Amino acid sequence: MKERIVLVGFMGSGKSTVGSALARLLGWRFQDLDESIEEATGLTISEIFERHGEAFFRGEELRAARRMALLSQHVVAAGGGAFASARTRQVLRLGAVAVWLRCDLETVLARVPARGSRPLAANRERMRELFAERQSSYSLADVTVDASAAPVAVARRIIAAVFPEGPPRAARDIDR
Ligand code: S3P
Repeated sequence: MKERIVLVGFMGSGKSTVGSALARLLGWRFQDLDESIEEATGLTISEIFERHGEAFFRGEELRAARRMALLSQHVVAAGGGAFASARTRQVLRLGAVAVWLRCDLETVLARVPARGSRPLAANRERMRELFAERQSSYSLADVTVDASAAPVAVARRIIAAVFPEGPPRAARDIDR
C-alpha cells in the first residue's frame, strides 16, 4: 500500500486545506512543499522570486521534492508549478500516489487574490495562460478528483479513490 499522497493542481485548488483534512482523516502527517522551501532557504516564496527569480525557486522546489520522497504516512501539498516540471514531477511520483485537485479557472481566479502572497497571481493574463498550459501535466496524476466541493468532502473522495479496498485503520476508526 502506498504511504504517501501528493496533491497537485493549480494555485487555489485547495491543496493545503484538503491536504490537512486528508492527513487528519488518515492519521498521517501533512507537509506543504512551499513551507519546506521557506524553511530551507529562510525566505518567503515572494522573497525568493524577488531576490533570486523563478529559475532559482524551481531548483529549490526540486530539492524539496527530493526531501519529500523520504517520507512515509504523509500527505504532501505540491506548489502549482511543481508537477509541471518533468524532473520535479518524476521525483514527486516516486513511491507516492499523485492526486490532481481539478478546479475550473473561474473558481481559481475567485479564490486567489491578485495582491496576495503568490508572485505568479499578480498578472491575471499570465495566470490564465499557465492554467491552460499546465492541464496536460496535471492530467498525468494517478487520480483526478473534482476539487470544487468542501475540503473534507474532497478528502473523503480521495480516500475512496486511493484505497478502494477500504481506508487505512485511522480513517476507518473516524468513519465509524
Ligand atoms: C506557484 C504556486 C505556488 C508557489 C509559487 C509558484 C505556481 O503554490 O509554489 O508561488 O507556479 O503555480 P500554490 O499552488 O500552493 O499556491
